[in-house]
Amino acid sequence: VMVLPDPAACGAAVADAVADALTGAAGGPVNLGLATGSSPLPAYAELVRRHRRDGLSFRAARAFLLDEYLGLPRDHPQAYRQVIRRELTDHLDIDPAAVHAPDGTASDPAAAAADYERLLTAAGPIDVQILGIGRNGHVGFNEPGSAPGSTTRVVALTERTRTDNARFFDRLQDVPHRVLTQGMGTIGRAAHLVLVATGPDKAPAVAAAVHGPVTTALPASLLQRHPHCTVVLDPAAAAGLD
Ligand code: F6R
Repeated sequence: VMVLPDPAACGAAVADAVADALTGAAGGPVNLGLATGSSPLPAYAELVRRHRRDGLSFRAARAFLLDEYLGLPRDHPQAYRQVIRRELTDHLDIDPAAVHAPDGTASDPAAAAADYERLLTAAGPIDVQILGIGRNGHVGFNEPGSAPGSTTRVVALTERTRTDNARFFDRLQDVPHRVLTQGMGTIGRAAHLVLVATGPDKAPAVAAAVHGPVTTALPASLLQRHPHCTVVLDPAAAAGLD
């Protein structure tokens, strides 16, 4: 657990983990797992800065999104595939064809979930997986009750999560009810998990995830069992830790 002075410092620490994976690669592809939402945005801005300023190259990278809304048009500004292009990948030298997301427009979402899980399995382990955390302890969109071994699947968002995410949409009614998300088992296969949380709203979930019992009632607590998980916090998000 790292507690850093502010969200920008947290973003720099997350960017360090990604840069280490990129520069430490022995020539093969580097698999990056990307969360959306507001928590990773300082990290993405920092990665764009390092690419432009220092020449940090993403040519070897393949990117895999954690999750995607179901039912938004492909070009909707809040479709996570669009968000990640806008915030990150359009500004890097990554091959656009190497940026992958679950297909939230699929007519058969269960088949799209299975396809994405197969794609991830074939790609090999994610080297660095960036994660946020919901106020209810979700990671990806694994809402409370998600099984430790769960794989990519269709999930119905809780009303709390829909309300939390309504800030990205014009109206609450516009927030999709269902998503495709990597499962807890999928996420657990990544070599290095980097969970970033900032602000006081996340403090209770962070405290329960780090110090509480390992329970499916708070999916982030399952990450305690992962051999290499870094939790990057600002002081407000760390307020519930001893
Ligand atoms: C989004 C995702 C979610 C968010 C979480 C926190 O891809 O996986 O788990 O990380 O809902 O969202 P923010 O960062 O917006 O508070």
